Amino acid sequence: MKQDMIVILDLGSTENTVIARAVRALGVYSEIYPHDITADELKKLPNVKGIIINGGPNHIVDGVRIDVLPEIYEAGYPVMSVGHELAKCGNTPEWPAEDELGAFLKPFVFDVCKAEANWNMKNFIEDQIELVRKQVGDKKVLLALSGGVDSSVVAALLIRAIGKQLTCVHVNHGLMRKGESEAVIEVFRNQLDANLVYVDASERFLGKLENVADPEQKRKIIGAEFIRVFEEEARKLDGIEFLGQGTIYPDIVESGTKTAKMVKSHHNVGGLPEDLQFQLVEPLKQLFKDEVRACGVELGLPYEMVYRQPFPGPGLGVRCLGAITRERLEAVRESDAILREEFAKAGLDKKVWQYFTIVPDFKSVGVRDNARSFEYPVIIRAVNTVDAMTAKIELVDWEILLTITDRIMKEVKNVNRVCYDLSPKPNATIEWE
Ligand code: XMP
Repeated sequence: MKQDMIVILDLGSTENTVIARAVRALGVYSEIYPHDITADELKKLPNVKGIIINGGPNHIVDGVRIDVLPEIYEAGYPVMSVGHELAKCGNTPEWPAEDELGAFLKPFVFDVCKAEANWNMKNFIEDQIELVRKQVGDKKVLLALSGGVDSSVVAALLIRAIGKQLTCVHVNHGLMRKGESEAVIEVFRNQLDANLVYVDASERFLGKLENVADPEQKRKIIGAEFIRVFEEEARKLDGIEFLGQGTIYPDIVESGTKTAKMVKSHHNVGGLPEDLQFQLVEPLKQLFKDEVRACGVELGLPYEMVYRQPFPGPGLGVRCLGAITRERLEAVRESDAILREEFAKAGLDKKVWQYFTIVPDFKSVGVRDNARSFEYPVIIRAVNTVDAMTAKIELVDWEILLTITDRIMKEVKNVNRVCYDLSPKPNATIEWE
């Protein structure tokens, strides 16, 4: 193993991630584990140089005092217990900033634990390759490759580690953006020589969604159908024992750890039937989003794939409002492609957090070729946010908006109006459905 590691034991403090990031900022890898880890489990972790136990004042969580197992203190590692005293290391009574925290932790990490500052993406990748090979042996791994950042990076890492023992399944639900499935095939099958099963399930999804107008119903159908298609593909393959997943650290925190409170339930390819239970391979599960991107870059994935904007699982399905029709879906896809192209030309793709188009299910009157037209509007949305809980619109330059409008009017069929959505979140949400 290439990297030294500091283990942070979670006693229910929400600041574990801040500590982990502060240690990593010192150049030392750190991972967070539940408070009830045993000394045996701890000893199985590679290159542990020391332990930081992090809890609230007196380790009280919800009125109950919790602590790590006594054997942890006797396991032979340097231990530092932090909590309320940490608040005093900063300039303010608030939780200290990352650099203040780093300065506070530095003597422990380097002088007491004698850890080496050897955490970088190259070493991380080499370590994960070694761990994956050890876990998987000569067995086969299956991965649902959506083309999103997390699944793409995990695919690239697993290809490096186990090559053709990995089978990637890319399900095109017909609600992808223009060129997206093609990019997945190009990068993974043609460039990285992956074992890639491409399933074009567009017709099947559109069939199931016919005449379904309720947003929640649409989301449920898309989610359930996705699992069904993936399951069918999994059953066609022989001897798969492992399921790769692009789980990253925020997914674990948001789903609730033993001590951290549940925020929302995440299930990527959850919901597979009982007889299709696999062991999970999750090499990115200790990484934060920016680190996942850095990992993708190091693995040689294209910039657009690693830095792409968030895209909802139900895809363009929630941007083609109401009951989806082919004609409106095409209008969403084509107008979105134009928007992305023009934003990239103007450098806004690197500045704006998320931008896309919406086509509602009503028409308005216009003129085309000197005659009355009755066609759909396209709505442009461009927002900035830190955590997607609140969002503000981007004040896009009029000239850019006019260029985009002009192109949409000329190039997208069945459209006679372009609008810009000015609404912040709240009261609006980022997506329209
Ligand atoms: P809202 O519309 O709730 O969106 O303000 C917040 C962020 O979440 C994305 N989003 C989804 N992402 N699956 C996802 O993976 C989904 O079902 C989903 N719905 C919304 C949305 O694009 C925005 O970035």
